[in-house]
Amino acid sequence: MDIDPETLNTKCIYEWMIGTLLPRPIAWISTVSGEGVSNLAPYSFFQGVCARPPTLMFCPVNHRDGSPKDTLRNIRETGEFVVNLVRFEDALQMNQTSKTLPFGESELDQFKVDSLPSIRVRPVRVATAPVAFECRLDRIVVISEGPAGGNAVFGRILRIHVEDSILGTDGRPDPDRMDLIGRVGGSDYVRTRDRFTLDRPS
Ligand SMILES: Cc1cc2nc3c(=O)[nH]c(=O)nc-3n(C[C@H](O)[C@H](O)[C@H](O)COP(=O)(O)O)c2cc1C
Repeated sequence: MDIDPETLNTKCIYEWMIGTLLPRPIAWISTVSGEGVSNLAPYSFFQGVCARPPTLMFCPVNHRDGSPKDTLRNIRETGEFVVNLVRFEDALQMNQTSKTLPFGESELDQFKVDSLPSIRVRPVRVATAPVAFECRLDRIVVISEGPAGGNAVFGRILRIHVEDSILGTDGRPDPDRMDLIGRVGGSDYVRTRDRFTLDRPS
């Protein structure tokens, strides 16, 4: 089977993409508006970019009416965000925060997500996240405007919070202790517990 994306509508192409590009890590992103209201939402079109300088990216698409999601709007206003990683125990709460609330209403308040202050940026971080990256906006690449239009947001990592309890005896993050989840197609998720090892060729 071959698919020519030109022949499919956006929803169909989206379903092929989220059903095949997997598993995707989830960035649970906290931001703050220019007026100081905190916002929290999950984004799974998310990846690391490079380590010099330490940079990551995620992709908020526009709403069906073409307006930007609150996360993007806040980052445009303030230039800062925090990427919190999601452990299995936080899955339900993470999912709740994907609800579309009116701009100016905080998912942290509504869904009682515990937070802690950040060090280098104004948005708070999620208290239960095993790892949180404080980021300053590097650039926004607008892929397309209007309904479902795509945006890639690049952030410079300024600070990394790591919960001590996720470190293994070698001092490195232990995947079992982090127990992160990823997103696959539809409403499905995976845990990061099924792993195998391959040595790199010399
Ligand atoms: C696990 C998960 C991953 C998501 N990934 C994305 C994504 O990569 N891009 C996107 O635009 N929306 C994504 N969403 C939907 C947003 O979380 C949702 O539109 C949310 O209301 C946006 O909130 P905001 O307007 O406060 O930024 C995802 C939802 C879930 C549950």
